[in-house]
Amino acid sequence: MKILAIETSCDETAVTVLEASGTLERSSFRILGDALYSQAKLHTEYGGVYPSLAKREHQKNLVPLATKALTDADMFSKAQYSISEENVEQLRDESFRHDVRAFLESTEKPRIDLIAVTNGPGLEPALWTGVSFAQVLGATWGIPVVGIDHMEGHIFSAFLKKEQEEYIITAPRFPVLSLLISGGHTELILMKHWCEYELIGRTRDDAVGEAFDKVARLLALPYPGGPEMDAQAALGRARETQNPVTLPRPMLHDDSCDFSFSGLKTAVLYLVRDMPHLSKDDIQNIAQEFEDAVRDVLVSKTKRAIERHAPQTLVVGGGVSANTYIREGLEELIRESHPDTALAYPAQGLTGDNAVMIGVSAYIRTLTGKADTTQPLVARGSQSLAEN
Ligand code: KG4
Ligand code: ZN
Repeated sequence: MKILAIETSCDETAVTVLEASGTLERSSFRILGDALYSQAKLHTEYGGVYPSLAKREHQKNLVPLATKALTDADMFSKAQYSISEENVEQLRDESFRHDVRAFLESTEKPRIDLIAVTNGPGLEPALWTGVSFAQVLGATWGIPVVGIDHMEGHIFSAFLKKEQEEYIITAPRFPVLSLLISGGHTELILMKHWCEYELIGRTRDDAVGEAFDKVARLLALPYPGGPEMDAQAALGRARETQNPVTLPRPMLHDDSCDFSFSGLKTAVLYLVRDMPHLSKDDIQNIAQEFEDAVRDVLVSKTKRAIERHAPQTLVVGGGVSANTYIREGLEELIRESHPDTALAYPAQGLTGDNAVMIGVSAYIRTLTGKADTTQPLVARGSQSLAEN
């Protein structure tokens, strides 16, 4: 089955053409074409992601990226076609509509069986751009369109194992506990079987990636702050000196599996407010202690969730899962306390937002009979996997 997958939930625009085959026991995915554009540089200037700006960028980039992905997959033809105006009408932005019409007029229907698009959670204006683009393509080409949950994509990213030119998924041992740590989410979710979810814990305020980004900003580090903080913390740790900075571990001793990170950010705010000048060492010390605090909380809440729900597999997904220090903390937890639990992370290059994970989720959903292509799609900024 060939899938065209589209991701526009935040500040990455991504289009992938995947060839998927196999069963739920063992499926394989070949990337025929893949194009991704990160808006991070643009958002660096503003210190964060602005939804309307992100939407404009997605509108600008979707057509070139779709053209590239289809061209790489050898599915883009250079002929002239006429398309029905009715199909592009839903694109309200004039220049986006013009680009999409020109794109559709320049290629015949590609040999695609399914279009998959992220329809939540994320920034609603950004999500709508991808959703309406997918719907126009689907309507023009007569190809079914399925909406995919971004967080499910992050979970499935961790199951992908590279074997030569393909990615393989072998069925994990269920139940699977997922620690999802991204710019918009911090959740512990139990997957009892493929695509059946129960929410175990979540952040009551900021997401962990958001906290990394906000604290980075307080330390005058560029957006996205997570990788910068990661690097500064590593420099601090390499000095092997006693860290003079101490920060709280919010909700560490609370009985739930919920998280809270806004207090940690406020603690850093008060700390730097009282410092007339931030030296290199200060920045490294704060980043190191912040990362220690985040790791302590993530590890202890994950430990509690494992003790309560006895998962066979632990999955860590979302942009923050790129953080090696946090990974090491979770590895230690599994090694020392739950050696029978399998641990899976996304491969390098698949920790952040991408369209491959959206196509993979669409295929797994198709195999489970849970890919609904009959409903008109709605972008839902705050949708939760556990509602599905
Ligand atoms: O999953 P993702 O790419 O986008 C969302 O769905 O939000 O996650 C982005 C987040 C950002 O907050 C970024 O700062 C954080 O992931 N991040 C990191 C690291 N790499 C990315 N946070 C900590 N350490 C990292 N190495
Ligand atoms: Zn994400």
